Amino acid sequence: MSDSEVDSARRNWVMITCGAGAVGGVATAVPFLASFTPSDRAKAAGAPVEVDIGDLKPGEKLVVEWRGKPVWIMRRTPEQLKSLEKSEALVADPRSERTQYPTPPYAKNQARSIKPEVFVAVGICSHLGCSPSDKFQVGAQPSLPDDWLGGFLCPCHGSTFDLAGRVYKNKPAPDNLEVPAHMYLSDSRLLIGEDKKA
Ligand code: FES
Repeated sequence: MSDSEVDSARRNWVMITCGAGAVGGVATAVPFLASFTPSDRAKAAGAPVEVDIGDLKPGEKLVVEWRGKPVWIMRRTPEQLKSLEKSEALVADPRSERTQYPTPPYAKNQARSIKPEVFVAVGICSHLGCSPSDKFQVGAQPSLPDDWLGGFLCPCHGSTFDLAGRVYKNKPAPDNLEVPAHMYLSDSRLLIGEDKKA
């Protein structure tokens, strides 16, 4: 798929979800945080988004909007981090070397994150732009293998991702979920969209 086709698919996603007011419903069980924006106009232009993750408990996921896209912030449990060791051999690009959505150097590790427990990713499938669903429960369940380790399932064409957003082998999605540029302003404050101090 060409870059323009991918961009077009992503634009369509944004139009569809925003039009339906569905961004907050991407995962109904998690809150959709109002972000601390410099201004709505700056936000629309792609300004970084600051997020307080102080109340995010292990196993919980927040969704914030950045550049019209849902950005997931998940605090993984020790068990969930451990599952990444098992999925390592099952995913297509365990070291995030593919380049469709280049992974920042500080997330080119097994957990694909700065702090191992806190995962930040754009919640849009790298295939045709659907938003994958949370499938954190481990074990057999519809549409997933019996030895499912927990992760995400794209409902559109069945791509599955582990809890670091790494796509499983032989799935339609050509790349892992995108990890956006991000950095910590403090222990509990994240900046999405920028990764170096001004
Ligand atoms: S859009 Fe996700 S598998 Fe096709």
